[in-house]
Amino acid sequence: MKLLLLGCDGQVGWELQRALSVLGEVVALGRHTTANPGQLCGDLSHLAGLVDTVRRVKPDVIVNAAAHTAVDKAESEPELARTLNALAPGVLATEAEKLGAWLVHYSTDYVFDGSGTQPWRETDVTGPLSVYGQTKLEGEQAVATCDKHLIFRTSWVYAARGGNFAKTMLRLAGERETLTVINDQIGAPTSAELLADVTAHALRAAMSQPELAGLYHCVAGGETSWHGYARYVIEQAQALGWTLKAGPEQVMPTPTASYPTPAPRPLNSRLDTTRLQAAFGLTLPPWQQGVTRMLTEITAKP
Ligand SMILES: NC(=O)c1ccc[n+]([C@@H]2O[C@H](COP(=O)([O-])OP(=O)(O)OC[C@H]3O[C@@H](n4cnc5c(N)ncnc54)[C@H](OP(=O)(O)O)[C@@H]3O)[C@@H](O)[C@H]2O)c1
Repeated sequence: MKLLLLGCDGQVGWELQRALSVLGEVVALGRHTTANPGQLCGDLSHLAGLVDTVRRVKPDVIVNAAAHTAVDKAESEPELARTLNALAPGVLATEAEKLGAWLVHYSTDYVFDGSGTQPWRETDVTGPLSVYGQTKLEGEQAVATCDKHLIFRTSWVYAARGGNFAKTMLRLAGERETLTVINDQIGAPTSAELLADVTAHALRAAMSQPELAGLYHCVAGGETSWHGYARYVIEQAQALGWTLKAGPEQVMPTPTASYPTPAPRPLNSRLDTTRLQAAFGLTLPPWQQGVTRMLTEITAKP
């Protein structure tokens, strides 16, 4: 089996290189064409190049982990965001459908308006607040035109590799006596590792049961605010031996309203994962488990 992976250098893409490798040959492409021997185009802004790549590789599965993920920047470059998040997935869907290939794609809780306090279900009405959310929603709709598709909506993704919220909190807690962090956005920090592992399991199951194709919410178990997340990170880091100026008690709460951003953030980022767990027989571990693991990893390699 041949799998074409796009966005292989991102948080999720990097973990997918590992998790997909047991399923078959993975042709992993980042944004830069020259990084691979066949000069295949992995740039989502180059739609003709993308078509050419799929036609040359002829994959059984396309996994698209690339996206315009700079939420605030998307507000000032909506055309680029639409190309990467909606048009490119549309091209992949057309080409996958022609090949009879599976198409795996990732989306976000930002397709919802963030109202209420109930976890969003796959069947709930969408209402994006931002260009990023709107273009990701258009991408989902494009991907769903390919019969054999899996779309995973997730939230608050982190990985040991690259920058992330937890690392920023640790840096700030090392520099300052107090931190102020938003406490009225609620969601579940979800590791790129978990997403990649779920993807491999779900893909394998769906390939033998095509009726499993569809849209699934995929986040770690439980919920917290950014404030709760920051406190947990600092508490765990101290337990792992980090010397910090600010402890968990010095992380102060603040509402979203006090921290305006170009792209509005949904307050309710909770996603209901019942459908995913039932369809694939999977268990999603509590969010703290992945965060502790990531902290242990970055502590071992500071
Ligand atoms: N991060 C989150 O909190 C979050 C939350 C919900 C959903 N998601 C979704 O999860 C998926 C994976 O996100 P992630 O967290 O792994 O994001 P990420 O770390 O920002 O990775 C995105 C990747 O896309 C690449 N990319 C950007 N422009 C490209 C282009 N023109 N052509 C090819 N590749 C390009 C980036 O490359 P460069 O590094 O070169 O820019 C990066 O490697 C995305 O669909 C995202 O929308 C993420």
